[in-house]
Amino acid sequence: MSAIQVQGLLPLNGRIQIQGSKNGVLPLMAAALLGRGVTVLRRVPRISDVRIMADILRYLGCRVSLEKDCVTIDASALCRNQIPRTYAGKMRSSCLLLGPLLARLGEAVIAYPGGCVIGKRPIDFHIHALERLGAGFKEQNGWITAKAAAKSGRLFGTWIVFPYPSVGATENALLASVLAEGTTILLNCAMEPEIEELCRFLIKMGARIRGAGGPELVIEGKEQLEACEFDLRGDRICGGTYLAAAMTAGGDVTVSGVRPGDLREPLKAMRRMGARIQADEEKQEIRLVMEKRPEPVRLETGPYPMFPTDLQSILLAAACTANGKSRIREAVFEARFEAAKEMRQFGAGIMIEKDTVFAEGRYPLRPAVVKAPDLRGGAALVLAALAAEGESRIADSGYIKRGYEDICRDLRMLGADVREIGPGDETAAEGKRYR
Ligand code: EPZ
Repeated sequence: MSAIQVQGLLPLNGRIQIQGSKNGVLPLMAAALLGRGVTVLRRVPRISDVRIMADILRYLGCRVSLEKDCVTIDASALCRNQIPRTYAGKMRSSCLLLGPLLARLGEAVIAYPGGCVIGKRPIDFHIHALERLGAGFKEQNGWITAKAAAKSGRLFGTWIVFPYPSVGATENALLASVLAEGTTILLNCAMEPEIEELCRFLIKMGARIRGAGGPELVIEGKEQLEACEFDLRGDRICGGTYLAAAMTAGGDVTVSGVRPGDLREPLKAMRRMGARIQADEEKQEIRLVMEKRPEPVRLETGPYPMFPTDLQSILLAAACTANGKSRIREAVFEARFEAAKEMRQFGAGIMIEKDTVFAEGRYPLRPAVVKAPDLRGGAALVLAALAAEGESRIADSGYIKRGYEDICRDLRMLGADVREIGPGDETAAEGKRYR
């Protein structure tokens, strides 16, 4: 896998247009299975998870084309209901196809989706919701078979209470219930902006959904939905990443194409750390100016509208340069501190106690050679390297491409000295480990 090389201590300045949302587009691509006709999604991020989802849809029989930031999906020739292990293992979001395949074909077979370094990532909430809608499940040798119990192959409306406001389980229940017979009531739903966006998309396809964006959703099932065209929202996690980069490196950065309202808690935390922020909901722009070292921060992640777990390691990178001791509690995933362990090599005093990480900041950080543990952790390590003197390297940077179109391109546009180096790149810094 490739690596990213960073020459630190350059401030960031300028404006960056944020890509479409990764966690927004994946459920919409799954939802395209439900519509008659051709679905057109615009402002789609050019990331590997979108390419994997497109390959799965093609495998199922759909015609899918990816042109720049536009995806078109024609699901009329859908002919398979099984998702092979190669795909399910690559991307957890493949489990979002359970709902639409059950709704369309009455049956779905999927290899147990891979967990990853941030925890077990079970799908028991998904299974429970789909069982409540009338699907029977069998698990055998790592395969999960879901089948509508009714002879008609249809699912039936019911009420479902989620034990935890799970993003994926809420999305799967929505995707299954829009074609179910009767009314479904979902309680204790996730309220992330991506759920509200999925509801808007399904409503545009003709679904009848009340309560979009809230904890309770009421869905009246329909016989048929129509494909539609849809423009995606900006990726709030990418936006938060580049704002945190400005905090870590110092400078004056404006991110455009992201709603400040989607980043309420992260912006509050950044202000507490000393960032000067101007947010314009109308223009969908956020400007962050950082002229001194950040102040330490105390925060806890949680389901929306709490601080998003996806920005936990990203803000930790800024906290590693802070003038004092920060405390960040990870309350969503049981194991999301792999990046924090790697970040120690940059010289900040990092201590992990159960679900909390403590960081004693220093500035500048020391250069280091580290390994990206996952998508967001990899981005966080790049941010830490921006505040390190000299040259740092982040290996296994391929993870980052799962969610960021081109983090090197974006940071270079803002003035950073960041570049991707291939595995055999002779100009790469020798693999020395800084201590
Ligand atoms: C979505 O994952 C996002 N992924 C994640 O972003 C994000 O971190 C997460 O929501 C939380 O916001 C996509 O949207 C593609 P959950 P998801 O179900 O749906 C437990 C990124 O970097 N749980 O809300 O998998 C689970 O283990 C990714 O972009 C169960 O126990 O998250 C976790 O502890 C990482 N059983 C908690 O709930 C289940 O059936 C929240 O998970 C489902 C989840």
